[in-house]
Amino acid sequence: MCGIVGYIGRKEAAPVLLEGLKKLEYRGYDSAGIAVIANKKTTVIKTKGRIADLEKKFEGKIPKGNLGIGHTRWATHGAPSDANSHPHASNSGKIAVVHNGIIENYLDLKKMLIEKGYKFASETDTEVIAHLAEMYDDGDLVNTLIKVVKDLRGSFAIGLIHEDHPDEFVAVRKDSPLIVGVGEKENFIASDIPAILEYTRRIYLLNDLEIVHLTAEKVEILDLNKKKIEKNIFEVEWDVEAAEKNGYEHFMLKEIHEQPKAVQNTVTPRIVNNDIVFDKFSIDESSLKEISKIFVVACGTAYHAGMVGKYLIENFARIPVEVDIASEFRYRNPIVDKNTLVIIVSQSGETADTLAALRESKKKGAKILAIVNVVGSSIAREADDVIYTWAGPEIAVASTKAYTTQLATMYLLAIKFGLLTKNLPTSRARNLIKELREIPAKIDSLIGSLKEIETMARRHHCEKDIFYLGRGLDYMVALEGSLKLKEISYIHSEAYAAGELKHGTIALIEHGTVVFALATQDELFEKMLSNIKEVKARGATVIAIAKEGNEKIKEVADEVFYIPNITDALTSILTVIPLQMFAYYCAVDKGCDVDKPRNLAKSVTVE
Ligand code: F6R
Repeated sequence: MCGIVGYIGRKEAAPVLLEGLKKLEYRGYDSAGIAVIANKKTTVIKTKGRIADLEKKFEGKIPKGNLGIGHTRWATHGAPSDANSHPHASNSGKIAVVHNGIIENYLDLKKMLIEKGYKFASETDTEVIAHLAEMYDDGDLVNTLIKVVKDLRGSFAIGLIHEDHPDEFVAVRKDSPLIVGVGEKENFIASDIPAILEYTRRIYLLNDLEIVHLTAEKVEILDLNKKKIEKNIFEVEWDVEAAEKNGYEHFMLKEIHEQPKAVQNTVTPRIVNNDIVFDKFSIDESSLKEISKIFVVACGTAYHAGMVGKYLIENFARIPVEVDIASEFRYRNPIVDKNTLVIIVSQSGETADTLAALRESKKKGAKILAIVNVVGSSIAREADDVIYTWAGPEIAVASTKAYTTQLATMYLLAIKFGLLTKNLPTSRARNLIKELREIPAKIDSLIGSLKEIETMARRHHCEKDIFYLGRGLDYMVALEGSLKLKEISYIHSEAYAAGELKHGTIALIEHGTVVFALATQDELFEKMLSNIKEVKARGATVIAIAKEGNEKIKEVADEVFYIPNITDALTSILTVIPLQMFAYYCAVDKGCDVDKPRNLAKSVTVE
């Protein structure tokens, strides 16, 4: 939520900031702005709208200066407007700040500052930071920021510049992502790596309440007592192309096509001699015996992957698993103790509710296993064990390759637990592992076979409602397919366990209602067939997804899309592909902004 970037060096700051912000626009795109210092003068330019609108505002005159900060916003406090856009300046105009997160005590701080005579120009929580900095300004930027931070409650990543200090700037984070990029005679801060990858691969990952002091020559990281903290540089392994569109019309389409590779990178290195081996993983046969219950906790798409995980872990390892939405889990006092394993699933590794659920569980003594895509993210660092999904950077707001790599990881983990508990016969595990290896090629051929989806989306992109039905694992994929459609095409959609429809929702089915029927589970096929007939009898148009070779489905469905043959337990990773593509083409046909759907942001760092 919100992207921030900061630069100090020999280059003109403004173009570096603008390019950086474009790479962070997935984090929020309600408004944008930059502040640059030149000739000991702070210039702030900001606007409601996107980076492209900000560029128009310059009218060809980009402000000069080698030091600056920039921001792209996902509005929380105050509607998107010029005034509420960041950077926010202090009353003297000398100090400018950008902020990602929420200052929970901003109303108290605002009241105190108003009493002291400070004037507010926005409705944001962030503005208190600029005025506090002015109030505490003692000529030392680090001191000033430390004093500000001590007054703040909530979450924040902050970049702060001051025109009396044209050769330095400061930054800090707490519960909001911020990294430092170390260049040659230039240094950077950013909410995420793609913003600065063009300039450096050398990164410092920050912990909460670490103060960063940057000049062009050097980066110092200090604690709140100004004691220096020594850190290792983290070298980014992926390159700029991974975060570019590479000829695809949208990041989402590119990321759909990257799934064979992403799944392969996630699966292949973990298969060693018919066993599953993870790098940072301390769970063994004896420690798993101590685990009486597993929770899988996540949000959104990651939660849907968690549901598949529950099904598989319970089936293969016979350990009870509960899946919970992070924002519910953390407030319902769940029964968690030292015999609980909490599996946290997150693409970004920074989702506020998920991170809070991790911390809450840790406090209660649970062991934490994180399934995370972003290396070095907060969740990855705070968990006891981590399994990375090697999806590479996912830029489109709607998750695709992160989801399928989360599924692949769930498959691996469930097999591993099945082997450790000895509830999964080795011969079955061997067959599953063999099928797992074949999945990347199957995704590839499936994507190639789905040209018809584009035509079908053209027929259906104006529907008002679309339903998704499935049983067992198909139901879990139905939830994900429905979410994809809603979030990027704005078509109302519901997913139902097919057997549950007749308990109420079937009342909504009428002549021409489009229903996706996921029918890939051989064991449940007959039951699913009956449910399809029930909606057909009420006039629904049924689009089915079934396994190759299933001829029976053609007798009941209006259209059928086939996935390659695979054992029931592993179908989800294939079944979701046509649903992702259908959502994508509907959104394109409706003229929606596919990669940046309205009201959303990629990394949800507010609660
Ligand atoms: C939907 C989507 C979201 C995320 C959710 C959790 O396409 O991407 O539902 O899955 O916001 O985000 P992470 O996985 O970063 O914790």
